Amino acid sequence: MTTFQWANDPNPLSITPKFIVPDENKPNLTNISHLDSIPIVDMNNDHEVLIHDISRACEEYGFFQLINHGIPKDLCENVLEVITEFFHLPYEDKVDMLSVTHMEDGKLFKYYIKDEKTKEKIFMWGEALFHTWHPVDVRFVQNLPTIPPSYRKVVATYIKEVASLITQLLSLISQSLGLDEDYLQRRLGENPKRTAQANYYPPCPNPDLTLGLRDHTDINILTILLADEGVTGLQVLKAEKWFEIDPVPGALIVNVADQLQVLSNDKYKSVQHRAVTNDTKKRTSFAVFIGPEEHGFVGPIQELLDENNPPKYRNYTIDEFMREYRNQEGKRRMVKEFFKIDSGVNK
Ligand code: OGA
Ligand code: NI
Repeated sequence: MTTFQWANDPNPLSITPKFIVPDENKPNLTNISHLDSIPIVDMNNDHEVLIHDISRACEEYGFFQLINHGIPKDLCENVLEVITEFFHLPYEDKVDMLSVTHMEDGKLFKYYIKDEKTKEKIFMWGEALFHTWHPVDVRFVQNLPTIPPSYRKVVATYIKEVASLITQLLSLISQSLGLDEDYLQRRLGENPKRTAQANYYPPCPNPDLTLGLRDHTDINILTILLADEGVTGLQVLKAEKWFEIDPVPGALIVNVADQLQVLSNDKYKSVQHRAVTNDTKKRTSFAVFIGPEEHGFVGPIQELLDENNPPKYRNYTIDEFMREYRNQEGKRRMVKEFFKIDSGVNK
């Protein structure tokens, strides 16, 4: 197994060449715009307003901050607390969970950028714990950490709440596309892909040289992100510029992922985002993903197409998508683009 330096927080890592990203990936932090208008969607609004706000946010930004979502604040805080406690454990307590294979259930992974010139792996200034959350009863927790002792219970309780929020959001998004309210839920199939990722970014002495998580789009349908308040780090690309998202207290960040962009035939946008670090505060986040089942197929929704809006993608299976996703490991991935009709790269 490759050995790599592991963040043994609370002692921040020292910058070594292994963490210094190639020039083209450096975050250029003095040149970040503030997006004061990232849409806020209020679940307490009237139905029509809610649908309208969601539709606008998904079309223009691909991201929104959801308030009055109904998940208790103390539960959200507890989730981030147990995750932080877990990542603060010494190296010895985590080493058995370490994996060099991306997206292994219950495993820790360190993301990296492949330096095109040297072919070296440049590691991100962050750590991620990936796991599934299916079945949504207690069984999925057997892959989760046992320290701190409340980890499994807290995360399981939170996941249950998020699962019902996701059901509501899928219905609202279906309606915002002019479809039956159960359309997306049905389209997800009997056995949707339910995964999650806890992210931890220790303070970094030189945030200009590193990234917490490189630029990427999420690959499923929807992501619900819970993140520390009072510390920025998530940035979103809009019109070729990076914007910082300032978390609204109590809000969850929701974003459109690749399969929803394809299903909507590019109406809704799965946008590039990344996490940057800062030199004083650690940052913890927890992303919950929902996507189509493994062997299910994805393509633009027939009901949304007509002669003025022909399909922009061919149909593909999630297996095919994931094969291409893995082919692009270490690069700035462009996976859905591979399935574009007349894109020149389509096979
Ligand atoms: C992710 C992600 C952002 C963050 O896990 O896919 O984009 O702020 N996380 O941790
Ligand atoms: Ni993401």
